[in-house]
Amino acid sequence: MAVSAPESTSTPQSSPTNLSPARTLHDVVFVEGVRTPFGKAGDKGQYAQTRADDLVVKVIRELLRRQPGLPPERIDEVAIAAATQTGDQGLTIGRTSAILAGLPKSVPGFAIDRMCAGAMTAVTTVASGIAVGAYDVAIAGGVEHMGHHPMAQGADPNPRFLADRLVDPSALNMGSTAENLHDRYPHLTRQRADAFAVASQDKYAKALADGRITADLVPVATRSEQGWGLATSDEMPRPGTTVEALENLRTPFRPHGRVSAGNSSGLTDGATGCLLVAADVAAELGLPIRMRMVSYAFAGVEPETMGVGPIPATRKALAKAGLRIEDIGLIEINEAFAVQVLAFTDHFGLSDDDPRINQYGGAIAVGHPLASSGVRLMTQLARQFAERPDVRYGLTTMCVGLGMGGTVVWENPHWTDSNLTAGSAA
Ligand SMILES: CC(C)(COP(=O)(O)OP(=O)(O)OC[C@H]1O[C@@H](n2cnc3c(N)ncnc32)[C@H](O)[C@@H]1OP(=O)(O)O)[C@@H](O)C(=O)NCCC(=O)NCCS
Repeated sequence: MAVSAPESTSTPQSSPTNLSPARTLHDVVFVEGVRTPFGKAGDKGQYAQTRADDLVVKVIRELLRRQPGLPPERIDEVAIAAATQTGDQGLTIGRTSAILAGLPKSVPGFAIDRMCAGAMTAVTTVASGIAVGAYDVAIAGGVEHMGHHPMAQGADPNPRFLADRLVDPSALNMGSTAENLHDRYPHLTRQRADAFAVASQDKYAKALADGRITADLVPVATRSEQGWGLATSDEMPRPGTTVEALENLRTPFRPHGRVSAGNSSGLTDGATGCLLVAADVAAELGLPIRMRMVSYAFAGVEPETMGVGPIPATRKALAKAGLRIEDIGLIEINEAFAVQVLAFTDHFGLSDDDPRINQYGGAIAVGHPLASSGVRLMTQLARQFAERPDVRYGLTTMCVGLGMGGTVVWENPHWTDSNLTAGSAA
């Protein structure tokens, strides 16, 4: 869906039928985004004894704390994604976390799932609601406590998937799909994947040192055998990673494979959330506009090579926006696996180290709590937009299990046409 034509709210058109005139579409803007620090999944991780829904509560509270101009009763919807929707991620987590966060009971909520693109789908779903006038203000986000909910635990895939050869068995294991990508594109070697992974760690370390990571985090109280603690930083990054250290790591998804713990995203706990608002309502409430949604698209691909999903999704989203990849100044792509990002850059003719991509590093460094990652990409893009008035458009994109990709194109409200600026200065 192209949310609306650039620059303005579209005007009602005459209807080709006897129905009332077509409705007015509303521009959708991204006002605020935050996340918890990401933790290492497992018994030793910082959130081992923290509930997933409590992570979401922290995020919702922080969104409201950062935007005191937003009366909580103006929130029309809370959409929270989780890839596993049982236990502390069950019972319609958008609604449970809204109540736990102290939002008025009049604010509804729901749970949403598109595996890794859950939070991205929460964003596009509520944005569509805003665009057609169903909502003025919505919270969208996601959570995955991969320690409490190991990937695919409790899932019961229909035996026909394999019996009827609808998919290859490797399609059900994400690491194996990454190995399949190396098979399909032999020029995307392990060496290139490892070099990309090292760069992700380096970029994250630099962004952290420059204060660009912590600014988006909400600290979380934690509990362990030692007593109460406070999670203030991401646990996954491995600063100082070298190509030499990665080249000998074992390849858990295939003997003598190419996908290792070093060039994959790790198993992670964390939550994200953002505030999406109709542009006219943001103006009414005096809320900051950090990004404007231009278009979005999801696409399906072969499940065995799910990592190529961002390619058709991006082509579709760009086409809907009337843009080309050359028009995109910043790209936040989820690094589920290095090879899957390289398949994207290779397709669009970008270099492995294109400076537009993942300026703050990516999931290989920071981790990938499945359903929450989409909003991390958006929050980081919003921060980069504020620093880059020379960039007009950016995109967020990610691959999705069982063969899908999702892309959202955003416009930078801080953009200034340097030609115009130069002209007016003259
Ligand atoms: C790849 C994977 C199996 C690794 O899990 P793991 O073995 O528990 O990972 P670890 O962190 O223990 O790392 C394994 C080893 O690599 C080493 N390692 C990991 N990253 C490293 C780095 N950057 N530099 C050096 N060594 C590194 C660890 O030190 C460890 O070494 P050890 O065995 O000597 O202790 C797991 O992270 C995974 O499944 N990732 C993919 C998740 C996924 O599919 N997400 C969905 C995407 S669509």
